[in-house]
Amino acid sequence: MNRTRCDRTPAWSQLLAAFESTGRTFDVRSAFAADPARFEAFSQSAPHVFADLSKNRIDAETEALLLELAQQTGLVAHRDAMFAGEAINNTEQRAVMHWLLRTPPADPAMPAQSVHRQMAETLHEVHTTLGAMLAFAESVRADASITDIVNIGIGGSDLGPQMAVLALDEFVIPGKRFHFVSNVDGHELAAVLRKVKPASTLFLVASKTFTTIETMTNAHSARAWFESNGGTDIARHFAALTTNVAAANAFGISTTFGFWDWVGGRYSVWSAIGLPLAIAIGAQGFKEFLAGAHAMDTHFRTAPLAQNLPVRLGLLDVWYRNFHGFTSRSVAPYHSALKRYPAYLQQLEMESNGKRVDADGQALPFGTSPVVWGEPGTNGQHAYFQMLHQGTDVVPVEFVAVKTPKHSLPGHHALLLANALAQAQALMQGKADAGGHRHFTGNRPSTFLLLDELNPTSLGALIALQEHRVFVSGSVWGINSFDQWGVELGKVLAKDAEARLGSGDATGLDGSTAGLLARLRVS
Ligand code: F6P
Repeated sequence: MNRTRCDRTPAWSQLLAAFESTGRTFDVRSAFAADPARFEAFSQSAPHVFADLSKNRIDAETEALLLELAQQTGLVAHRDAMFAGEAINNTEQRAVMHWLLRTPPADPAMPAQSVHRQMAETLHEVHTTLGAMLAFAESVRADASITDIVNIGIGGSDLGPQMAVLALDEFVIPGKRFHFVSNVDGHELAAVLRKVKPASTLFLVASKTFTTIETMTNAHSARAWFESNGGTDIARHFAALTTNVAAANAFGISTTFGFWDWVGGRYSVWSAIGLPLAIAIGAQGFKEFLAGAHAMDTHFRTAPLAQNLPVRLGLLDVWYRNFHGFTSRSVAPYHSALKRYPAYLQQLEMESNGKRVDADGQALPFGTSPVVWGEPGTNGQHAYFQMLHQGTDVVPVEFVAVKTPKHSLPGHHALLLANALAQAQALMQGKADAGGHRHFTGNRPSTFLLLDELNPTSLGALIALQEHRVFVSGSVWGINSFDQWGVELGKVLAKDAEARLGSGDATGLDGSTAGLLARLRVS
């Protein structure tokens, strides 16, 4: 598979020239005035998600060049290599196959390469494991004596299931509470343990590696609490979700649900890591979640690039990051249940694409991952939208709105949607008729993602859309989006610091760390 880094393609130079001639001064308002069909040209239907891209600083010529850039970097071959199970995670020599977790048992649309024997066997294993996990989920749902499910995990072993359980709150089985403990800060676990009882609690220890220090510390403390509070049946009250079943067994957990090293932590909500979600919304709901994602996979794999939503979004990200120089993107879900969606996207995008070297280890001369941040609307409006409207930096905003609510309280939903529309409008239109402090420059870009309803299917599609758009920008940048070496150094230093907190030894430390260590040790 041939990948060419974006800055080494002819299209990159053409885009640089296009940016200087029309991009830098592009005004979305004038573009609408000049083209009555702009909304149609820059909107895109994809499975379960409709996207309006028309309020972005982009025209047909720029988009054509960006699509050319995608072609010249080898995006299509790279995408197909992922779907063929090639080891595209080159620094860890691993395939990237989270998409297989949502592939139906005999999907006629699977690419030819995927039906070869080994892939078919792997798919069979996926469905056997899924079946066991869903059967377990159903047994927990049917067990009225289990009232509390405590997921102990961090990063991808927390953010995905937590985000999804909260997002699908309307579909969650009544009579069961879901808790998520991620932080090694004992306050978090202690607060949950105050609310639960050993006899009615199921602990899920979620860790791909089963070595993550936060998760192991919390799991040990949870087990100690369980045993010292009269809990007896570990096999019934603890289950592990991991690729490292041997370590889970060694910990004393015999109920385990496995997955594979070709599932990245931040891409693992579709695997056994999704068990809390499966318990919450049931086997059927979880299958719908997978089906929504699979529909988006098929769209990504088969739609022409010019009508391919992950491709269009990912290329827009490149245009903003590398030509306009925008360093962040704000996400604004106008649905209170999507409260952990921004945090989930932070790991997905920033851990995937926060890289300073290309896949061959060469330093990059251009920027990669933007800072991704946000809060549900309308809350964000009353906090940081001031900066989005009048700050010195332009921050593209990505709205998510849901057409039909699941509640029947009069007035609320229209007001919510009106606010989402109004914010996008205000960012673009600005306000020129007042000077000074009351002036809004406008021409501030935004994208609007629209779901008919927030349900397991549409959530699955939305999350898969985000996974693939991150793939697209990472692919164009020529990086490996599937490793995360940047988290390792801090882990090593934390071990050293922990020992020094005990011993007080400051030998060889920098002055700041030594000073802080001394203060932290004063009792
Ligand atoms: O430290 C980062 C990370 O490796 C993430 O990529 C991962 O999602 C998280 O830690 C948790 O890892 P594990 O599931 O192995 O406990």
